[in-house]
This record gives sequence, structure tokens and C-alpha cells, in this order.
Amino acid sequence: MSNRLFGAAVALLAAALVAGCERPPVDTVQRGYRGTGMELVYNPRTELRVAEANQAPAVTPPADSDAGPKARDIYKNVPLLGHLSVAEFTRVMAAMTEWVSPEQGCNYCHDPAAMGEDTKYTKVVARRMIEMTQHINADWKPHVAATGVTCYTCHRGKAVPQQVWFKAPPQDKRSDFIGDLAGQNQPMKMVGMSSLTIDPYSLYLLGDQTIGVGAATALPTGHVASILHTEETYGLMMHMSAGLGVNCTYCHNTRNFKSWESSPPQRTTAWHGIRMARDLNNAYLEPLTKSFPANRLGPLGDVAKVNCATCHQGVYKPLYGAQMAKSYPALLTPTAAKAVADGLPPPMAEANRSVLYFGVGSATLEGEQAKGLTKLIATLAATPAAKAQISGYHSAAGEKASNEKLAKDRAVNVRDAIVAGGIAPARVVLDKPLQVGANVSGEDPAARRVEVTVK
Ligand code: HEC
Ligand code: HEC
Ligand code: HEC
Ligand code: HEC
Repeated sequence: MSNRLFGAAVALLAAALVAGCERPPVDTVQRGYRGTGMELVYNPRTELRVAEANQAPAVTPPADSDAGPKARDIYKNVPLLGHLSVAEFTRVMAAMTEWVSPEQGCNYCHDPAAMGEDTKYTKVVARRMIEMTQHINADWKPHVAATGVTCYTCHRGKAVPQQVWFKAPPQDKRSDFIGDLAGQNQPMKMVGMSSLTIDPYSLYLLGDQTIGVGAATALPTGHVASILHTEETYGLMMHMSAGLGVNCTYCHNTRNFKSWESSPPQRTTAWHGIRMARDLNNAYLEPLTKSFPANRLGPLGDVAKVNCATCHQGVYKPLYGAQMAKSYPALLTPTAAKAVADGLPPPMAEANRSVLYFGVGSATLEGEQAKGLTKLIATLAATPAAKAQISGYHSAAGEKASNEKLAKDRAVNVRDAIVAGGIAPARVVLDKPLQVGANVSGEDPAARRVEVTVK
């Protein structure tokens, strides 16, 4: 071989070997005590691209949530957001549209002829997504802190978030010389083009395989983590690093990967992140599988799921920690039964007549409403010949059969409250009223009531 040809071959080989590497110059940031080698290596050019893709959209300030009618007074099927003022409700709908389906618009979730119906699967999924977002912001504070998440954190203007995962189909165990690939040995993007496990997510972000593989003692003392298991842990760590756009030293002092004492605090945040992703996949996404059409499911028929990259998208804090969520109070706390019961009219509490109000779908006599019986019970106690007559009502929204049961349950609960106040059960009569069509506006709080009259 001539020298020139040999030189060209060497150059070609060198080029092939570094093809997967990034072009220098790269930059470093010191992240740990000097001498510990805890440096973050980054490439200013890729960083610029990532930064551009991770800007938070503009946020309009929240509308006054006490002004004007509530959404549930006007609309018929708003169990989650009905406590908002109509202005704020409309703002949240507009924001959700911008975050999830800006091109398709409101009709991506709604049938314009019947906004209150749940005919489209996207609306059914979106309702659960609202609950999931509330749950993340309220219950996963050890991870998301005050930054929190909105639909935009994952969706970024797309109905299907860009970074989701499905279970990997089992590898083809051919009888050729490659043989059993042991669930790895195929360079996978999700593990940084290494040949580690092909599916770290099912093991750790759906299942709860133990991540710790390091021995606690220098000499072997019964530690059992296999090499395969160790490689699977590394597979997850590769995903976490790539998902956040950081090196291992962002969370570890590489002198001892296991030691929590010498790890930066970000490792603790990451520990909660692993549990959070697992919780979201098991409690929210997997149970939605049947709601999705077949074209949204993975090769094994499973639903698209969340990993670190779904929110982070290559950045150490999603959207560089932009605090969007706080401008959407409706997404910060779960719509508790209490919030729904709030905003009911005060109970009518007269000596001979009480009218008590109930939350949407609720038969429980709560808070202020329970106090509406005090005077009436005093009258009954003072006049032994008097009887109480009770009638339960429901609103016009919802199924007839379940509404009738609801109206009856409300009446029964009020009877029980009067009996608990010391009045003999025989003196409390349930009277099924001629019902419904009584209110025209669907979820009218004034319709969800029980009337008690002393006769
Ligand atoms: C990503 C899905 C999604 C998009 C997009 C969306 N909505 Fe909604 N919409 C919902 C969900 C979910 C509910 C029910 C909320 C609840 O359970 O409290 C709802 C409820 C409503 C209701 C109440 C209907 C009733 O009678 O019960 C109205 C009105 C409404 N949306 C208007 C809009 C408008 C206007 C737009 C566009 C600016 C829009 N929505 C975009 C998901 C969506
Ligand atoms: C933690 C990430 C995350 C957050 C936050 C989130 N979503 Fe999703 N969403 C997903 C994933 C994952 C899917 C499943 C993707 C698919 O549709 O296959 C999904 C699917 C959906 C779909 C179905 C889209 C389709 O075309 O199949 C709708 C609609 C939706 N989300 C609305 C919302 C709304 C509204 C919010 C905010 C209240 C929200 N999402 C918040 C992760 C998220
Ligand atoms: C974003 C933070 C983060 C990054 C980046 C990260 N790790 Fe981890 N690592 C963790 C957490 C958290 C645990 C503990 C998980 C648990 O026990 O649930 C862990 C555990 C480990 C363990 C097991 C330690 C033991 O207890 O035996 C090893 C090994 C490890 N990481 C290696 C790496 C390597 C190699 C990299 C870079 C490719 C890396 N990690 C990047 C957060 C991180
Ligand atoms: C539901 C969205 C979401 C998912 C999924 C998610 N994170 Fe986060 N993460 C956040 C938010 C929001 C913050 C910002 C919290 C703050 O401002 O302190 C954050 C912060 C962090 C931080 C702290 C960064 C710092 O410099 O303080 C680490 C580390 C982290 N996440 C790791 C992970 C890992 C690892 C996973 C996957 C196992 C993960 N996250 C999954 C939303 C998410």
C-alpha cells in the first residue's frame, strides 16, 4: 500500500471513529470542589439550539376568579373547572388550546355543536391530564418545587408530546452467530447510542427495579447485583443525563457514585423525579390506554408514557425554570370536593324552614350548610307535635337515574342530621317532590338542594 493511500485510510478511520463525537471547542463549568473533577462539559453551539427551543410562551395574567358567574352556573359538564369564574375558565381553555392544539383549535377536543358532551377521546384524555397536572403541582413539590408544570411543559404546542416512550418489543432471537442479545447490544438513542439496555424505562419508570448496584463494602459480602443489572442502571443514567443535557457529575461525585453525602443536591431532586415519572405512568397514563385510538398506541399496544425528557427536553430545568404554572391557579391544586362545594349559596336557616345546598354530584352536607338546621331542630325540640317534611332536589345536568338517587341520598342525609340532633325518626318524613326541568341552565347550584319544612 502506498504511503498516501495508507494516510488516507488512517484519516478515514479517524473520521469514522469520531463521527459520533461533537466538534470542539467545548466549554466546561466547575460544579464541585476543586480537584474533584466535577465539571460539566457542554458544547456552546448545541446549547444555543437547545436554548432557542426551550423558551416559555407569553402568559396572560389570570382573570378575577370571584367576579361574575361561575363556569358551573353556565355550563353543564365542568366537574374540574366549574369553580372558576367564566372569564378565568375561558382563559384556561384558550391557554390549553395554545399549548396542546394551536393548529386544530378548540374543536380538537370539542364537538362545536355540543361543547358539554365527551364525544371526542381527546376531551376525555384532557380532563385526566388536568387532574394529572394538578397532582404534579400539588403532590410532587419535592421535585417540581414552585416552578411546577403546565400542559406546555410536555406538549409544547403539539397534541402528542415530542418525547414519549413505548415498551420495546422483545429482540429477535435469531439462530445466527449473534444469538441472544440479552436485551441490549443494539445502539439505542435513548441510552446515548451506547449498547446498554434497549428499554430502561419499563424497568425503572414503570416497574420499580432496584437502581442501586454498588456494593456497600470493599470486599465481597453477599452483594448480588449482576452485570446485566448494572448495565441497566447505567442505561437509565444515560437517559437521565441526556434528558437533562448534563453529565454524570451534575448529580454524582464520580469518586463514589453511590455515596449520597458527596452527591450534589440535584441528585435528591432526581430521586424524586424517578418516583414521580413512575407514578404518572402507572396512575394516569397506563389507565388511559383504552381511551386512545389504536394509532396512538405503541408496537405492543401500550400507551405513550412519560420519562425525564418529556418535561426536561434536554434542559436541567424544563423551560429553564420559567414559572408559568403560578399564573394558572386552576392547575395548581386538585379540584377538591371542598372547592366544588365552595361558592354555594348560604343555607336558608329559619325556625320553620331550611334550604340546604350541595356540591356537584355530592350528597354530603358540608361546612356552613350543616349549620342551616340548628334553628329548625330547636323548633322541633320545642314543639313535640310538629313533624319535619324533607324533599331532595337535583340539578338538570346529568343522567336521570343517578340524579334521582342523588336527590334521595341528599334527603336521607339531612334526615339523619336531624335525627342526630335528637329528634325521633318517626317525626321526620321524606317526601319525594315532583321534580326537574325546574332549572334551565344545567348546573345551577340553587337546584342542588334539600328543603325542610316544619308542619
Ligand atoms: C385539550 C382539550 C381542550 C381544548 C383544546 C379546549 N377544551 Fe374546552 N373543555 C375541555 C375539557 C376537559 C372540559 C371539561 C372541564 C371540566 O371537567 O371542568 C372543557 C369544557 C369546556 C366548556 C364547557 C362546556 C359545557 O357545557 O360543559 C366550554 C364552553 C369550553 N370547554 C370551551 C372551549 C373553548 C372556547 C375552547 C377553545 C378556545 C376550548 N374549550 C378548547 C378540553 C378542551
Ligand atoms: C407530564 C407531561 C404531560 C403534561 C403536564 C400534560 N400532558 Fe397531555 N399527554 C402527555 C402524554 C405522554 C400523552 C400521550 C400522548 C398520546 O396522545 O399518544 C398526552 C396526551 C394528551 C392528549 C391526547 C392527544 C392526542 O392527540 O392523542 C391531550 C388532548 C392532552 N394530553 C391534553 C393535555 C392538557 C390539556 C394538559 C394540561 C392540563 C396536559 N395534556 C398536560 C403528557 C402530558
Ligand atoms: C440527574 C441526576 C443524575 C445524573 C445526571 C446521573 N445520575 Fe446516577 N443516580 C442518580 C440518582 C437519583 C440515583 C439513585 C437512584 C435510586 O436509588 O433510586 C443514581 C444512582 C446511580 C448509580 C447506582 C449507585 C448505587 O447506589 O449503587 C450509579 C452507578 C450511577 N447513578 C451512575 C451514573 C452515571 C455513570 C451517570 C452518567 C452517565 C449518572 N449516574 C448520571 C442521579 C443521577
Ligand atoms: C412532570 C415534569 C417533569 C418530569 C417528568 C421530570 N422533571 Fe425534573 N424537574 C421538573 C421541574 C418543573 C423542575 C424545576 C424545579 C425547580 O425549579 O426547582 C425539575 C427539576 C429537576 C432537577 C433539578 C435541577 C436543578 O438544577 O436544580 C433535576 C436534577 C431533575 N429535575 C431531574 C429529573 C429526572 C432525572 C427526571 C426523570 C427521572 C425528571 N427530572 C423528570 C419537571 C419534571
